[in-house]
Amino acid sequence: MCGIIGYKGKDNVIDVLISGLKKLEYRGYDSSGIALKGKDIQIIKSVGRISDLEEKVKKTELIDTDMGIAHTRWATHGEVNEENAHPHRVGKITLVHNGIIENAKEIKDNLISKGVGFNSNTDTEVIAALIDFYYENSLEEAIAKAIDDLKGSYALAIICDDSDKLYAVRCESPLILGISDKGTFVTSDIGAILNYTNKYSLLGENEIVVIDDNGYKIVKDGKEIHREVMTSNLTDEDNDLHGYPHYMLKEIMEEPVLVDHIINKYADNLDALPDLSKYDNIHIIGCGSAYYAGMIAKNLFEEDGIRVECDVASEYRYRNIIYDDKTLVILISQSGETADTIAAMRKATEEGIDTLAIVNVDGSTIARESTYKVLIEAGREVAVATTKAYILQVLILSLLSYKMNPDNKYLKDLKKLPQQLNVLLDRTGYFKKLADQIYVRDDVFFIGRKIDYAICLEGSLKLKEVSYIHSDAYQAGELKHGTISLVEDGTVVFGIVTDDFIRDKTISNLEEAISRGAKAIYVGTEETKYEDQIIVPKVHSKLQPILVVPVLQIIAYYVAFKRGCDIDKPKNLAKSVTVE
Ligand code: AGP
Ligand code: GLU
Repeated sequence: MCGIIGYKGKDNVIDVLISGLKKLEYRGYDSSGIALKGKDIQIIKSVGRISDLEEKVKKTELIDTDMGIAHTRWATHGEVNEENAHPHRVGKITLVHNGIIENAKEIKDNLISKGVGFNSNTDTEVIAALIDFYYENSLEEAIAKAIDDLKGSYALAIICDDSDKLYAVRCESPLILGISDKGTFVTSDIGAILNYTNKYSLLGENEIVVIDDNGYKIVKDGKEIHREVMTSNLTDEDNDLHGYPHYMLKEIMEEPVLVDHIINKYADNLDALPDLSKYDNIHIIGCGSAYYAGMIAKNLFEEDGIRVECDVASEYRYRNIIYDDKTLVILISQSGETADTIAAMRKATEEGIDTLAIVNVDGSTIARESTYKVLIEAGREVAVATTKAYILQVLILSLLSYKMNPDNKYLKDLKKLPQQLNVLLDRTGYFKKLADQIYVRDDVFFIGRKIDYAICLEGSLKLKEVSYIHSDAYQAGELKHGTISLVEDGTVVFGIVTDDFIRDKTISNLEEAISRGAKAIYVGTEETKYEDQIIVPKVHSKLQPILVVPVLQIIAYYVAFKRGCDIDKPKNLAKSVTVE
């Protein structure tokens, strides 16, 4: 999902903007642009990669400037082209925008009826036109008036012909204020400015930031307010590949150390985790991989005898839910800014229901607004396809389940996990061999039962989102109810078998596929006759996914590598989907 960076100060503005855009690339985008404010406003935009924009900038005679804004666009309104790329300029106003304006057409039609002209078909240009329409002699007032009219989500960085100040405001979409002794920043993600500062403030909804030569002020409803200045524990080091070819591989290989950190933090200190025993009805909500982590937890909590349901946030937020005061809603989100998950959280909050966030980005909307939070401490996850964050989400959920039902075997197995993970991940040669068989396929299926099916969901998503191979996860018993018609000679079918109770059933479903030509890849805890099998150590059932999923992640990585895919920034995908 797009990104914003704005800066006013003594550092080289172009360096700040371009380096910041590069740090925001991981969020996913299709075009980008910058605007510099000097005597005039200079705009340079490009479809494609930041490197394409950088080439254009290098070929341009730049104005003298100490202020600028920049943007990576993930198109929602208007095709991907240079006209629709940001920044957008209308009249005296130039701005960049993250988010979606839901009433853009209504506002645009109204402005057209008043003689305002438009060049693009984006919702963003409408914001610029609206602010320009209201602008007389106070830009702050014009912005305040405009945001009163806007419906939807926005993070805006705004400059104006008449002013040497930089303005910013947000609603729903994240925006951070960066503070250094050489200047002031606004950005979607602190990672974009860590090589300049780690001091930041979080902006609240509709708080207008005005940045000038002396620093900044934050205004809410016409009154100046103060926001705490915090220090991020992230460093620019977190952006470094450390010699890996891709962030995805680096982040998978970080999993043993990160799992070890969480184990050391909580294994003998469960009191540091929220006590869920007072709830007898748990709703687990997320999107994508976060939802699939929730599906793992659904299996664990059910085994604990708790009423639990797991739903995708984009459905849950519209359901007619009958809550009682013993309901807990758990929100799972790496970014803490996923629009649908935020909406699901606010639905529960409005009903007075407790919420627990299992989140990676501290200070994110979900982390700030939930009743309780547990940080997964994955560090910065740059690859769009989540790996280490998913594993740590599952580990935290497993520990919460263990806290409700302690047993010694769990604790013993828990402490062996990091080393077992190291051993499992250290089979690059074999994973590459499997990838050689898979990368040519058009269809790959994953089958399993109960918690193994929840594992299949994530394994299948990982493969399809980075390799672009069509893949689906099926309850093992379901394959024969239709989809088996797609199985033909060589179709790869992963059989995930870690649950002893249903092992034979899943094996027979795998055999049904094999008898129709499928190439089986077995991933399980018991040796089998299969030519291609990955045996993972048998551990407590509440820990088993933490050994299986990384194997599926790294296989997906090598398949995508064989296919020459843009592994860290898969097409059409965004790291944090801050729009609905
Ligand atoms: C997973 O690899 C995807 N990037 C995507 O499904 C992601 O898990 C989903 O968008 C939820 O993101 P969040 O965890 O930041 O809320
Ligand atoms: N909705 C705006 C557009 O389509 C902004 C999208 C984004 O957040 O990048 O240009």
